[in-house]
Amino acid sequence: MLSIDEKYSLALDARLNSYSPYSNFKVGALCILENDTVIKGCNIENMSYGLTNCAERSAIFNTISQGFNYKDIKEIVIIADTEKPVSPCGACRQVMAEFLKPSTIVTMFNLNKETRVCSVKDLIPFAFTSGDLHE
Ligand code: THU
Repeated sequence: MLSIDEKYSLALDARLNSYSPYSNFKVGALCILENDTVIKGCNIENMSYGLTNCAERSAIFNTISQGFNYKDIKEIVIIADTEKPVSPCGACRQVMAEFLKPSTIVTMFNLNKETRVCSVKDLIPFAFTSGDLHE
């Protein structure tokens, strides 16, 4: 099991890869699997701003792209330079609802290592999920 210090330092590493020349707001994220494999993500912006990919979604999409089973994700970690530990945007919460379990742990940091921990269900209660679609 990774310590808080290890999560913080790996998330900081992930943040270093951020491509954010338009906002200058660097975000790092990690998906941690049941066996403690760590997959990193960062925010990647575009001149056409709406095409930006947040760090959380990058980490989840990297996990899937690299052939890991998203069902093995036990925790997602996020870090940014915010006053309080950074809180994921609405789009990322919806993607979390698709690929993570309601009980998956979300660990949020700021650069001062202030930490907030909750579950996906806490971030997106009453989520719209595939079970809501009629065949
Ligand atoms: N961003 C993230 O990567 N994750 C969040 O939780 C909040 C926002 C990115 C998107 C954009 O590149 C920059 O931060 C400013 O919104």
